[in-house]
Amino acid sequence: MRITKTFFETRLVATGEVGFVPTMGFLHEGHLALIEAARAANETVIMSLFVNPLQFDRDGDLARYPRDLERDVELAAAAGADVVFAPELEEMYPGEQFTRVNVNRLSDEMEGPNRPGHFEGVATVVAKLLAGVQPDRSYFGRKDAQQLAIVKRMAADLSFPGSIIGVPIVRESDGLALSSRNVFLSSQEREEALALNRGLMAAADAAEQGVRRTSELVGAVHGEIGTESNLSVEYVTLASQDLVEPLDELDRPAFLALAAWSGKTRLIDNVHLDEANGGFVADRGGRLETTSVLYGPGGPGGGRG
Ligand code: PAJ
Repeated sequence: MRITKTFFETRLVATGEVGFVPTMGFLHEGHLALIEAARAANETVIMSLFVNPLQFDRDGDLARYPRDLERDVELAAAAGADVVFAPELEEMYPGEQFTRVNVNRLSDEMEGPNRPGHFEGVATVVAKLLAGVQPDRSYFGRKDAQQLAIVKRMAADLSFPGSIIGVPIVRESDGLALSSRNVFLSSQEREEALALNRGLMAAADAAEQGVRRTSELVGAVHGEIGTESNLSVEYVTLASQDLVEPLDELDRPAFLALAAWSGKTRLIDNVHLDEANGGFVADRGGRLETTSVLYGPGGPGGGRG
């Protein structure tokens, strides 16, 4: 496996069709599932590790974001990546930058208003990464449902030639969606956070049984979260997969997504509802059988934040 620092070098070492997995590092099995998907369909698999300052909207969040390059390189290699592209700030943002990418309307709801500037930072860095790496296929997690929609739309609107592929959410064995930020949760906060997944799974069952009204689906989520008074919910919203438009009724491919704070940690999760056989089938994601690599030998609940 090669480690590269520049776009030029990264393009030089790639042969055949290129699968690309952009990340901010501190890898877990969710990221590794993206490598596996890329591995199955491409000759060269490139993973990027870059903590993008442009997309951080809260004071201290960028400085606090967990980092461990050595560990990431090992995990990426073991999962089958051929190249880890780990650029310095200077390679990504040499000098002053005057161009920003905004995907209007798709950023208006959910994460958009709660994280001002976040999606502009994401769309701008992903555009730069796609332009610099020139992949045939790029892989993004369904975990970040709105980000996936925005990246798909941006790539289409700006005529990027490769395809954008969404990959199901990887969850810990108890259902908590894997996130690099989970290392900040204390054991009590982690336990309380499980209500988010329970809520989404209740709504997924309801949708598969034919419930179409958004109020009922959202109500099913709140029914579970209501039992954990320490969770502070920002939103629970049903939106269309393509335009991220809030829906009154489940009548097209959609995702039911939420954001909530458990202590000082902001968590997001969702369930995608895909059309199948005249009804809807929920993508509940997959669950790990063992403890995530995220926690190392100490196991979860350390609350390193
Ligand atoms: P990051 O949070 O590191 O996530 C990198 C990719 O991994 C994203 O596509 C994300 O959706 C996916 N991912 C994260 N957790 C996942 C899980 N539990 N299951 C499946 N996929 C998961 O998202 C970003 O970085 C950045 O915004 C980025 C796109 C790299 C731009 O800076």
